[in-house]
Amino acid sequence: MRLAILTSGGDCPGLNAVIRAVVRSATDRHQWECVGIKNGWKGAATGEFIPLPTYAVSGILYRGGTILGTSRFNPLQDGETTARVLENLTLHRINAVICVGGDGTLRASHEMTKLGVNVVGVPKTIDNDIAATDVTFGFQTAVQIVTDAIDRLHTTAESHNRIMILETMGRNTGWIALCAGIAGGADMILIPERPFSYDKICTMLAERHKRKSFSIVVVAEGAFPEGGKAVTLGELDAFGRPRMGGIGYELAHEIEKRLNIESRVTVLGYVQRGGTPVAYDRILATRFGVAAVEAAAEGKFDHFIALRGEDLIPVPIADGTGQTKMADPKLFEVAETFFG
Ligand code: F6P
Repeated sequence: MRLAILTSGGDCPGLNAVIRAVVRSATDRHQWECVGIKNGWKGAATGEFIPLPTYAVSGILYRGGTILGTSRFNPLQDGETTARVLENLTLHRINAVICVGGDGTLRASHEMTKLGVNVVGVPKTIDNDIAATDVTFGFQTAVQIVTDAIDRLHTTAESHNRIMILETMGRNTGWIALCAGIAGGADMILIPERPFSYDKICTMLAERHKRKSFSIVVVAEGAFPEGGKAVTLGELDAFGRPRMGGIGYELAHEIEKRLNIESRVTVLGYVQRGGTPVAYDRILATRFGVAAVEAAAEGKFDHFIALRGEDLIPVPIADGTGQTKMADPKLFEVAETFFG
């Protein structure tokens, strides 16, 4: 068996742990040959295939990012591209492909299966918004990064008697903002699942500032006011999704105007996807990689690996994609206990 692996979509800490696990288990347990496809599905179209002997994955477990590179390239963008992908996979004698990616990548991989490509998916996103799996690797690292930022923002907010607004990633869900907000002791957390009211926010902050001189507000990039919509940056990505961002600045402007309290914004952006994965994500990513190889060995193609409780199970890609896992309302209620 010649097994290929590609990483697609936004990068996230833990990708290299998956690559390492796939190569080591495929080679050592099954004596298969491993091949890396560069830059997601783009490398399949341009013919960028590299051999992955076990020494090629030595020392990458702790490294952030992906040694293969990634992209948001869609292999189905047009007939010619798809034909080139299929030709190159045949030319390089690839028997199966492990696709590590988010919802968009997994859905594209499902379509490639219909064209005869044996695919096993590994769900990946810091957003933790893939409904079929309890959690995705990369999420806990992003939560830790945001929590560390909230801790640091506390000292400068307190020193300047300011309202510090921290905008997090998460696309259309608030998992990162909600979990990091709880861990960091945020005074308010705004998420897309709960459209907010400027009146209520400002009333709560005004009340708090009668007894406190600073506040920390964590806002997910997809959050929006009641009756409004998320702030986007215009262009669409290869899977037709808009880039998010900017709500933090709108929030700061409105709060400062209404309360006349200095408000400053930090947009963490890509810092949330960078650097070394936390231990939890290294372990989960390693488990995903080994499970994906076992699924391939059992011929469980057109499935992706999902965490259910303590178990990793293969889920049909068609069944497990297309549903966004919104932030848990019960967890939000816990967080609300500490607002204000
Ligand atoms: O899906 C992961 C993610 O980091 C989102 O949280 C964010 O909105 C998006 O990717 C950014 O996409 P890009 O890397 O294409 O700018």
